[in-house]
Amino acid sequence: MAALSEEFTVSANEAVHISIVQPGPHDQLVRRHNFHPEFTYPIVGEAEQIFGYKGLDVEIQFAAHNLLPHINISYEKKFETVGTTSALDLNKKFRDFLPPTAFERGFESLVQDDPDAAAWTPPGECVKRYTRGGENYEVWAGSLLGMPMRTLVDNIQILIVSFIEGGQFINLEDVDWTLDRWRVYLTYHKASKPPTPRASPYTFVGYATTYRFYIFQKPAKGHVPISFPFSESITPNKLSSRLRISQFLITPPYQNSGHGSALYQAVYDEAMTDPTILEVTVEDPSEEFDKLRDMNDYETLRPQFEAADIKIDSSALTSLERGRLKRIPTTKLLPLDKLQEIRAKKKIASRQFARMVEMYLLAQIP
Ligand code: ACO
Repeated sequence: MAALSEEFTVSANEAVHISIVQPGPHDQLVRRHNFHPEFTYPIVGEAEQIFGYKGLDVEIQFAAHNLLPHINISYEKKFETVGTTSALDLNKKFRDFLPPTAFERGFESLVQDDPDAAAWTPPGECVKRYTRGGENYEVWAGSLLGMPMRTLVDNIQILIVSFIEGGQFINLEDVDWTLDRWRVYLTYHKASKPPTPRASPYTFVGYATTYRFYIFQKPAKGHVPISFPFSESITPNKLSSRLRISQFLITPPYQNSGHGSALYQAVYDEAMTDPTILEVTVEDPSEEFDKLRDMNDYETLRPQFEAADIKIDSSALTSLERGRLKRIPTTKLLPLDKLQEIRAKKKIASRQFARMVEMYLLAQIP
């Protein structure tokens, strides 16, 4: 029985693969990219194993431009039960992570014969263009309130749990659609020549979602406090806010080529030009994301620190204080007012800013 169980148990991370497809010649879809998920435990359970199948192949396909999803499950043999254990109901498991359209028939012809593909553009507006290795890339941004953006995000949320440890879905049913809090940033490769004349030149690279927390400041004395719920004359979008980067993903074929930095910069640049955003924060960053954020924030802040001549200055200390440097409060060693000014101007969250100051000071040690 144990041998049989083993024979019909497969690694989910190997059996599942994600492909980004485009229309191809001879009426056949072309797999532009094909990669495995990093995690499958949110879908199939902690052990990341699937029981009950031999020769199992689970292909999650996405149309390269509009990310129309489809799931294809195939196997050589299915064993319904071994002893008291039943084969995993894959359709049921994946239904919680993919929209119902992913289970419908006709995906291949929908992608192959899409009459709108050639003229399609990503939802929102183009906020950044850049080149890498001679290829063109664009970042588009738009509110999650727009239906094309909402559909697109709903299509690809499975990628969040597949690549971000502990990654959370945005529950689109729970979003408060009366407040425009979510803004989505999409990175696309734009081919100079699509694979067929009717195909879209756009191929999805990665995306980030951001969320605004409104900062309700205490009204000054003598002012009438803002009452809730909001009156028509107060638009929450005009209130001071803190921007939180919620989900951030560059798909494996495009990682380690600077696309993460380009996407982070696109989000940050928009925050810099929006006077209502006071600082940029990140929700539960992974170690890899921390590295990316540090690298980019440091590049932003270093010239500011240099211009303000930030350094540890012990000249104002008494000789007694100098002997006990460890116990001296930071206020006596660093120009905190200058630092606070830089932090506010560059909209960096306080803990991240403190890390950047520390990195800068350490880099000054000869
Ligand atoms: N050419 C070659 N390499 C480059 C270039 C370039 N033009 N530009 C930067 N790099 C290097 C960087 O120096 C960096 O090197 P290092 O790791 O040695 O420091 C490395 O490439 C990574 O930087 P980017 O390429 O800008 O980042 P990437 O596009 O790989 O994105 C990310 C990083 C977002 C973490 C990606 O790997 C990813 O999505 N991982 C899986 C999901 C994940 O962890 N997401 C973040 C979760 S946290 C959250 O969601 C808030």
